[in-house]
Amino acid sequence: MIDRIEELRAAGAAEVAAATSSEALEQARVRHLGRRAELPNLLRGVAELPPEQRGAVGRAANVARKALETLIERRGGELAASELDAQLARDRVDVTLPGAPALPAGGLHLLTQTQREIEDVFIGMGFNVAEGPEVEHIHYNFDALNHDAAHPARLRSDTFYVADEVVLRTHTSPMQVRAMEQQPPPIFIIVPGRVYRRDSDATHTPQFHQIEGLAVDVDITLADLRGTLLQFARAIFGDERQVRLRPHFFPFTEPSVEVDVSCFNCTDGLLADGSRCPLCKGTSWIEILGAGMVDPNVFGYVREYGYDPERIQGFAFGMGVERIAFLKHGVSDLRLFYDNDLRFLRQF
Ligand code: DAH
Repeated sequence: MIDRIEELRAAGAAEVAAATSSEALEQARVRHLGRRAELPNLLRGVAELPPEQRGAVGRAANVARKALETLIERRGGELAASELDAQLARDRVDVTLPGAPALPAGGLHLLTQTQREIEDVFIGMGFNVAEGPEVEHIHYNFDALNHDAAHPARLRSDTFYVADEVVLRTHTSPMQVRAMEQQPPPIFIIVPGRVYRRDSDATHTPQFHQIEGLAVDVDITLADLRGTLLQFARAIFGDERQVRLRPHFFPFTEPSVEVDVSCFNCTDGLLADGSRCPLCKGTSWIEILGAGMVDPNVFGYVREYGYDPERIQGFAFGMGVERIAFLKHGVSDLRLFYDNDLRFLRQF
């Protein structure tokens, strides 16, 4: 019996030593120490042996079983460690491989960039940014801006009507009146936004963007307008710029001016090769916006909100964002801004 125990132990030990995986080791354990294995059953049968054999057989079987258990545990540890090593080796990441290429970052549309650039200039001079409705009542779009009943912009051929007295705003100027209804003077605002006109060619799109400006306080003069616009022109087109005010007419300003900036593309209207500058057409001045002193009639519409035309003055201006971007970047056709061709847009 003792010999048999030694045989079983030796056989078990050999199999444990030969196991090359945790799985094989577990199978060996079941075979030699499991419920149906001979050694444990031998132990359970000790009680049926003649009393003088019980002690020795029981001890030998116990020792053999413990010996096998110890071997299994040790082998299990070895196998687990080498299996982990193998798995780590399999899973190794080569950190020197190039990563997944970064997705190209999007960018702001040139018109958005230009609008923000202009906003920043005026915010720097103390103006606030206000926005107004694109669907506008003719009271704000025309009447309160002193347009007479026969003004051509009121025609259905020029302007998109939504109803008899409601239009898609043709300019951002209506916000002058709305803003003055909302707060007493002083007021210093710019109003960026979309505007709409029934026009479509290389230099006109039916929808475009303007930035309106309005400054109202006591003692505001045309010199303040000029200084403000000079500062603006230099910030956008370069420190060397000059501005020039030419008399013009707008219904809601008096006097009204058109403002030119000195050309930043040529000297005295000529390119380096002696040819005529295409940007200023040889005049060395480029028109950039309309402006003027707020007409007292406009204040008349908001008198009850604190705008007494006898006491306060103001200047206003309005520019096209497309036009500024177009001039600054030498774009050849306004419609390119809206074609969404990335080859064009990515240049900016
Ligand atoms: N609203 C005018 C337009 O769309 C531009 C303009 C001119 C705005 C003179 C002004 C201004 O505020 O004073 O053509």
